Order: sequence, then structure tokens, then C-alpha cells
Amino acid sequence: MQEKIVIITGANSGIGKAATIQFAKAGYTVVMACRNFEKSRQMWEEITTETGNKSIDLMTLDTSSSDSIRTFATAFKNKYEKLDILIHNAAYFNHGHPYQLSTDGIELTFATNLFGPYLLSMQLHESLKKSDDPRILHAGSNIIKNFFNPGLKIDFDHLREENTTKKSFSVYNSYRDSKMALWMLTMKLAEEFQNDGIKVNMLEINGAKMSKETLRKFKPRFRVIAVIQNLFFPTTETMAENYYEICTSDRFKDTNGKLFNHKLGIMQPAQNNPDFKAQFTQLFGIEVYPNYAHDPETIEKVWQLCVELTQNQRM
Ligand SMILES: NC(=O)c1ccc[n+]([C@@H]2O[C@H](COP(=O)([O-])OP(=O)(O)OC[C@H]3O[C@@H](n4cnc5c(N)ncnc54)[C@H](OP(=O)(O)O)[C@@H]3O)[C@@H](O)[C@H]2O)c1
Repeated sequence: MQEKIVIITGANSGIGKAATIQFAKAGYTVVMACRNFEKSRQMWEEITTETGNKSIDLMTLDTSSSDSIRTFATAFKNKYEKLDILIHNAAYFNHGHPYQLSTDGIELTFATNLFGPYLLSMQLHESLKKSDDPRILHAGSNIIKNFFNPGLKIDFDHLREENTTKKSFSVYNSYRDSKMALWMLTMKLAEEFQNDGIKVNMLEINGAKMSKETLRKFKPRFRVIAVIQNLFFPTTETMAENYYEICTSDRFKDTNGKLFNHKLGIMQPAQNNPDFKAQFTQLFGIEVYPNYAHDPETIEKVWQLCVELTQNQRM
């Protein structure tokens, strides 16, 4: 195989780690983009030994920090001629934790899950253009089903400390909102990058076994629920296979701006004014996502915020 290069953010744990193993076994050059170098080094050693792949690279990246993203992108471009696949897997979801700001002064959930992925894609745009089959994948969540509630909108008031009433803040809500905003960004980026042949898609993850370390990050009230859910979740390897298939298979070579479900079906926007049966299918099925995702004003707002809060130009 001609050298193919993939970057996986948050590759030291969970689905990201399983995906690193999957790509490494298939002979890819894998860049594990992790925020804690020392902690991740152990994973890097384990994965290198397990897969026998000598082209696994560990590089430092904090997706909540614009400085870290720019430093990472520069280091990557100095080292590698091109980028074939960019998987935005890292996310912040420490449910129950108080309001926190990133080093850029932006609410941490949005900084990590939305603005970081946007800036990283922009910074690596030129590298992706050099691939003959460039693909970007965002890790989504079925938490966006909450937006089937017609009264629910993304709350942008918490992004900056001066606008927020911290009492009404919850990481759970911010995570939900950041993943819906990420789906909107996916569709917008797919359009923006279309002429460069870069495909941008998202996978709606409805659960994958979480490690003890991840569960420990939740405050007790959320941990109890997560531990129970975890019993029924599929393995991280199952979801990593989905990452692999979406990013490598010929059948998705031309797929752009789509939301995949965990069976790799392409989801559709829900119908308006659903009857009871349709509402049931929306909530419990895997075929449709909330129409709110196509709200033009909110998509534009997400895009403008991405541009303004990262003050980025394409590189
Ligand atoms: N597991 C599920 O049930 C589920 C359900 C829906 C969606 N998802 C999505 O699937 C993806 C992977 O989740 P997972 O379950 O595999 O979780 P995980 O095991 O907790 O992995 C999350 C990874 O993100 C990294 N990370 C967090 N903040 C970061 C930052 N600022 N910079 C760089 N890396 C950062 C973590 O690094 P540290 O180890 O240093 O903390 C960790 O490596 C996420 O996008 C999540 O939203 C998962």
C-alpha cells in the first residue's frame, strides 16, 4: 500500500485507541494526537508492540487550545507531506462537573468538541488537499436526539464567561449542544471543502464501552447511569470498525456531508409534524435525525462563531 496517513485525536483511550489499533494493523501511518504525552506513551508502546506497526507516531495535541492546535499542525506539516484521514474523536464530557474555561477563555466543552475540530481541520486543509482520497470524520453522539423536542435550541450563552449564568450551566447540556453544533459544522465544512475533494462526515455513536477512567470522570449521579448503560454498550472495537469503514472503504469514497448511524446507514432529516408512530421511530430508531440540524440561521451562527473564536484562516 502507498503510505496512507491518519490522525486520530484522543487516541490513547476508548474508541480512539481501538481505532488506532485497527488502522495500525491495516498498515497505516497513524498519528496518535493526545493531550497527555507521558500517559499516552504507555498506550503508544502497547499498540506498537501489539500491532508490529513501526509507523505509529505520538504527538501532543490539546483540542481545546488554539495554541496547541497550531503547534501540532505546524509540527505535523514539517514531518509529513500530506494527510489522508483526519478523525476528530477526542471529546470533553465530564458530566456533572462545574463550568470551566479553556486556555482561550471559551467554555471547555465547546472549545474541545467544536472549535478545536474546526481549527484543526482548517490548519490541516492544505495537507488534506494533497491526498488522493482525503476524508474527515467527526465523532457524533445520539444525544442530538434531544433536539426532536421542538422547544430545544443550542444555548450559546455559556460560551463566554461574561455572558453565562453558571447556575443554569451543565456539561451534559453543553455536550449535547456541542455535538449538534458539530453536526451542523460537518455539513457546512462538507460544502466548503467540496471543491478540494475532501469528504467530511459524522458518525452518530449510540454507545461504546467506556473505560473505568472515563467513568471516573463523571460525578456520581451521572456515573451510576453510565455504569448501567455501559453493560449494554457494544465494544469500542465495533465503533472503531465503523471509523475505519467510513474513512477507507470504496463504497463511501464519494459520500460527503452525511450522518452515519452505527450500522453505517445514512441518516435522513426527520419529517415535520410526525404522528405518534413516526415520533416513536424517531426516538428509538436509527434512521433519522432532528430537522433542527438544518436551521439555516443556527448553521450560520455556528460557522461564524467557529471563524471568530478561532480567528483562523485556511492554511
Ligand atoms: N462511549 C460512548 O458511549 C460514546 C457515545 C456517544 C459518543 N461518543 C463519542 O465518541 C468519542 C470517543 O469517546 P470514548 O467513549 O472513546 O471516550 P474516552 O475513552 O473518554 O476518550 C476520549 C478521548 O478524548 C481525549 N480528550 C479529551 N479532551 C481532550 C483534549 N482537550 N485534547 C485532546 N484530547 C482530549 C481523552 O484524553 P485523556 O485520556 O487525556 O482524557 C481521551 O483520549 C467522543 O467524541 C465521544 O463524544 C462516545
